[in-house]
Amino acid sequence: MMHFISFMIALSLAGFHTSADYLAGDLDKPATETATTDKGSGAKTGSKDYQNDPLYPYIAQQNKLIEKDGVQYITNPENILVLANKEYSLQSSYSPPDLVRPNVTFSFGDEQVEKAKMRKEAGSQLEAMFAAAKQDNLTLYAVSGYRSYQRQQEVFGAEVAAKGEAKAKEAVAVPGTSEHQTGLAMDISSRDQGFNLTEAFGETPEGQWLQKNAHNYGFILRYMKGKEAVTQYQYESWHYRYVGKDAATIIYENDWTLEEFFQHVQALQKKIDGGTAK
Ligand code: DAL
Ligand code: ZN
Repeated sequence: MMHFISFMIALSLAGFHTSADYLAGDLDKPATETATTDKGSGAKTGSKDYQNDPLYPYIAQQNKLIEKDGVQYITNPENILVLANKEYSLQSSYSPPDLVRPNVTFSFGDEQVEKAKMRKEAGSQLEAMFAAAKQDNLTLYAVSGYRSYQRQQEVFGAEVAAKGEAKAKEAVAVPGTSEHQTGLAMDISSRDQGFNLTEAFGETPEGQWLQKNAHNYGFILRYMKGKEAVTQYQYESWHYRYVGKDAATIIYENDWTLEEFFQHVQALQKKIDGGTAK
């Protein structure tokens, strides 16, 4: 009976399935209850209802993987939603195809360096984001964007030398596993932080502005406070990752990490696969 009542409530709620529904744990409900039809006619058409799910478009944007010597390598690294982390690696030979130098304020001024670069789409959105912050009288400084595999080797090596391997791995990605190699990440700071990458940046007006607004430009705070067990990295108030506006908004509204986003995408895919297999 309860099942029937909640089914009827689901039907009577006009409109479509929004990302906010996930906060209420809708994902765990049976398929017929999570999906509503576009026109609210109440007609159920089986697995096609999933196409109204905000996560549906991202099924096609999951990592594609190949395993080699116990390492999971990403074979579609140009995917804007690529998930590079301690589980999924980029090939050492990978470098993004469309790196540009965005027209933003850099902590190192006009110096022509690799770390100034980002992928084209991410770079133009970074420009829009910095310009919007400026409108609010805040000057953001880009500190470090693209890093080649070779550069990541240097950065990681230096951190190991300074802090030892275990500590280094909490802060710096092992070469091949860094988002900086994707050209989709930018570390950001402010003048009052001495352009340094500090946890305290998160409490500054610039850091707070980013936390509130970055998703409107397609960026997410990638290594969140309180989500260290999920991301496997310490909190990084400065590291912003471009994923595109729609995905960033879903991630922001649900307070997810990129890992959690894809856990939900995968769960949706499993439901669809399960549904069609019947
Ligand atoms: N600091 C981040 C995790 C990196 O090295 O990519
Ligand atoms: Zn970073």
